[in-house]
Order: sequence, then C-alpha cells, then structure tokens
Amino acid sequence: MQIISDISGLRAALRTLRAVGGSPLPRSVGFVPTMGALHAGHRSLVLAARQGCNVVVASIFVNPTQFGPNEDFSRYPRTLEQDCQMLEDERVDVVFTPTADAMYPAGASTFVDVEGVSERLDGASRPGHFRGVATVVAKLFHIVQPDFAFFGQKDAAQIAVLRKMVRDLDFPVEMVICPTVREPDGLAMSSRNRYLSAEERRQALSLFRALQAAQTLADHGEHRAAALLKTMRSTLEAEPAVRVDYLAVINPDTLLPLENVAAGGLLAIAAYVGGTRLIDNVLLCSKTSL
Ligand code: PAJ
Repeated sequence: MQIISDISGLRAALRTLRAVGGSPLPRSVGFVPTMGALHAGHRSLVLAARQGCNVVVASIFVNPTQFGPNEDFSRYPRTLEQDCQMLEDERVDVVFTPTADAMYPAGASTFVDVEGVSERLDGASRPGHFRGVATVVAKLFHIVQPDFAFFGQKDAAQIAVLRKMVRDLDFPVEMVICPTVREPDGLAMSSRNRYLSAEERRQALSLFRALQAAQTLADHGEHRAAALLKTMRSTLEAEPAVRVDYLAVINPDTLLPLENVAAGGLLAIAAYVGGTRLIDNVLLCSKTSL
C-alpha cells in the first residue's frame, strides 16, 4: 500500500495503477474519502470499494473548512498509524494524506456552494459546513478522478449535498451509498463516539431508540410525519441529558419536510450528548413499491 501526501505524486501513482494489467481499458478506480479515526463504518466503505473496483484509493484529511470556529477541528481524533494499518489489512492500494497547505494553498478563494440543500439539517445548525464538504470533495474528485466514490448513509444530508454537486457540475463519478454500520446495541458508529463518557455512551443510544420507535410506527401504517416526529421527540425526552438539535421527517434528496411518508422518506436526528453532537437517520421505504 502506498501512502502519498503530495498531489502530483498521487496523480503519477494513479496513472500507473490505472494502466497495469496489460488491458487496453483503464482499470476502475474506487475512492473512499475520510477524515480518519477509522472504524467499522469506514471499513464497510473500503470493503465495498475493494469488491467493486480494480484500484482502491482512500483519503485521510481532517478538512478545516468544514468545521465552524467553535467546533472540534483541533481536538478531532487523529490516529494515522492505526488507520493506515486497517486500510492495508483491507488491501487498499493508495492512501492519500494531504496537508492543509497542499489542499488550500495560500490565497485559495474558490469554493463550491450547493445552494438550498446546504442550508438544511446539519447545514442549518452548522453554517458553512457543507460549503467546506462540497469544496474538499470536489477537489478530491479532481485529484483522484475516481469512477466510483463510496459514502455512508450515516451522513444523510452530506449525501444529498454531494449527489446534487455531482449532478450540477457533471462530475464523471458514480456515488455508491453504503448502509450505516452500528454497534451491537444499535449506536451508529462515529469517530466522535470516542468523546463520550460511559454514561453519555448509554444516553446516546436514545437517538437510535427514537428512530426505531418511529420506524416501527411507520411499519405499522402510521404515515403522518407529525405522529412520527412526536414519537421521536417523546422517546428522546425520556433521556433528559440529551439535547435535541433537530428532528426531521424529510425527502432524502431535497431535505425538505414531508407531511406523509407513504411514498418513503428519511427520519433524521441530531442531538448533543454532553458536548458531543451526534447524528443518525433511518430511510423508510415506499410501501407501494414493495
Ligand atoms: P468521515 O466522518 O470520516 O466519514 C467518511 C465516510 O464514512 C462518510 O461517507 C461517512 O458517511 C462514512 N461513515 C461514517 N460513519 C459511518 C457508519 N457508521 N456507517 C457507514 N458509513 C459511515 O464524512 C466525512 O468524513 C467528511 O465530511 C468527508 C466526506 C471525508 C469530507 O471531508
């Protein structure tokens, strides 16, 4: 596995990897962008990429432009050595680990703004967050030029923003969305879970419990968003230490509120447990298409 931190070095390595094998056609490149502190959720994306693509590239870059001034950029966990070991074990070909100076050279002033969706859900609570995400992912796509890019359902609003960016700007990449990987008790895996104390870890389970309660209701035929929201809220209120940021029943593409989920929809939660902001979501399938 090659670990490369400069952009021109990565481009050169990929030129070679795309061409090997003697085939007249270039080999497919799968890309898994991450901010490191890797866990089984990230691993599932790498496995999917390894299964479907000839060449697998992962990136590890804690992207400063997607963190707000009072967010956890400086204390975000950085575990490069363990991350690289895991990626090597999963037979990743190249890990791209750029520096902030390489990604944002002095004077860089070009950003990608996906208007509309970027201001909803996490974008409403974290102004500028999705501008940072879209900008860095656009840059990474230009640098890596993947055929397939792998993202987790865990970050549902990020998917909506990036799908729209890919469509609006004609990136020649197919987005592959992988299911949320959970701890055995249901907590969605997240690099930020390591901030939680044992007591907070227990309280954090209420996010999944709230989603499950609403999903069960929906499965039993309750399609009114207001009723699903009420259930999510009352389940979360049973854990008073958890502070809700948003509860939403929305269209997964536009992130706009739905009144009814008979045709499918997304249940999404963001909440603070202690000082840690956690998100989770569940996609409801359309009953009519079954
Ligand atoms: P990061 O939080 O490191 O996540 C990298 C990828 O792993 C994202 O696509 C995310 O949705 C996915 N992921 C995280 N937890 C998961 C889980 N429990 N199950 C399945 N997939 C999971 O998302 C980012 O980094 C950044 O915003 C990035 C896209 C790299 C841009 O900086």
